[in-house]
Amino acid sequence: MQTIPRDSSLDSTLDVVREGFPFLWNRTRRLHSDIFQIRLLGMKTICLHGPEAAQLFYDPARFVREGAVPRRIQTTLMGLDAVQTKDGAMHRCRKDAFMSLMTDQSRRQLLQLLADEWQAAAAQWEQQPEVVLFEEAQEVLCRAACAWAGVPLKDKQARRRARDFGAMVDGFGGVGPRHWRGKRARTRTENWIEGIIKKIRKGKLPVVKGSAADVMAYLRDADGQQLDARMAAVELMNVLRPIVAIATYITFAAVALHEYPAYRGLLRATHEDYTEFFVQEVRRDFPFAPFLGARVREDFTWRGCQFAKGTLVLLDVYGTNHDPRLWHNPNLFWPDRFRNRPISPFDFIPQGGGHYENGHRCAGEWITIEVLKQAVTFLNTGLRYDVPAQDLRYSLTRMPTLPASGFVMRNVRVTG
Ligand code: HEM
Repeated sequence: MQTIPRDSSLDSTLDVVREGFPFLWNRTRRLHSDIFQIRLLGMKTICLHGPEAAQLFYDPARFVREGAVPRRIQTTLMGLDAVQTKDGAMHRCRKDAFMSLMTDQSRRQLLQLLADEWQAAAAQWEQQPEVVLFEEAQEVLCRAACAWAGVPLKDKQARRRARDFGAMVDGFGGVGPRHWRGKRARTRTENWIEGIIKKIRKGKLPVVKGSAADVMAYLRDADGQQLDARMAAVELMNVLRPIVAIATYITFAAVALHEYPAYRGLLRATHEDYTEFFVQEVRRDFPFAPFLGARVREDFTWRGCQFAKGTLVLLDVYGTNHDPRLWHNPNLFWPDRFRNRPISPFDFIPQGGGHYENGHRCAGEWITIEVLKQAVTFLNTGLRYDVPAQDLRYSLTRMPTLPASGFVMRNVRVTG
């Protein structure tokens, strides 16, 4: 039996806080190993890095998600007992519901709604001396997501609802006030969406067949039980909240356009799909999900290392996307790296790895890519704007993170 290399620290919890996104990657390098052991909140935890380890992590015969997501993340980011925490038939049943929303036609509808929202928003921006892109994008995404999902949203509520979705994401890595803000935002939003689910079930709110609101309102678990109204609300929010969260990537994309203006021309001129390379590089280079957790289903051995039932295992998302063995010059923003580069389900994992249907890979990855491509094209060719001096730095120790200024744009003009 091989001994798993150990981190020298007695307990790494504070180091995670201090080092942030690169915490696991720092130890992979220090210990010269894609597998190592730490203590987290006093618990033995096995850490995995890289594509081969990701393939292991996404084997549902080896790992379960039950008991792997801390309560503080469930009460802010994703909701209690949601799809992310399910295994086997229970997971499959819920995941199928999410994947049913991702047809070509359905995604096209979302993009059309978004195109209209971007135009309407930009017309407003022309009247203002300056706008903060992150906040504006959250609102645009929230309006379009609600319309697409069949959730009525009053005009004057859009900004507040968008902020609440944002606060849930922001709250997952926070302590104290930031965490409580995320929890309060979740409670408020669950109350709102639960009311909508109840109205749909009573026939008081008509919904389009196959829309997210319809699918979640009538979803049954693998045991045949309809989700209670709160649970249905939580899952409907698992469609709305992450769409609003794409605002983070849009903000990073705007920073990249600003800091590497040479790409603006390539994005306009090139015949191949350079926009795709550009947004893939945004998802690779800029930090969002740091790592993912699962628990060992039954005892097994991998590469001579013992995995005992129930052990917490972390997969390094950020580090795998910044490993020079996989990505030449990984800290350089360089979209061309995606030209002719085959991507496996395990070596490029900003939104998780493995497969969509039977694993936990993000249900909204195609949407994220398409929404980002549309936003990059809009910023690059649909608008002209000045970028005043501001703080565009982002911290790698804050989770989630964002350019400090949120990307301020001045003198916005719609072109074309
Ligand atoms: C799961 C990231 C956008 C819906 C995940 C996971 C990550 C992730 C890291 C966990 C994968 C795992 O546990 O193995 C992101 C990021 C996004 C994004 C960074 C963009 C900002 C979306 C969108 C949707 C969505 C737009 C839906 C419209 C989901 C769902 C799951 C999930 C339902 C749970 C999947 C499961 O447990 O089977 N996402 N996501 N996400 N995402 Fe996303």
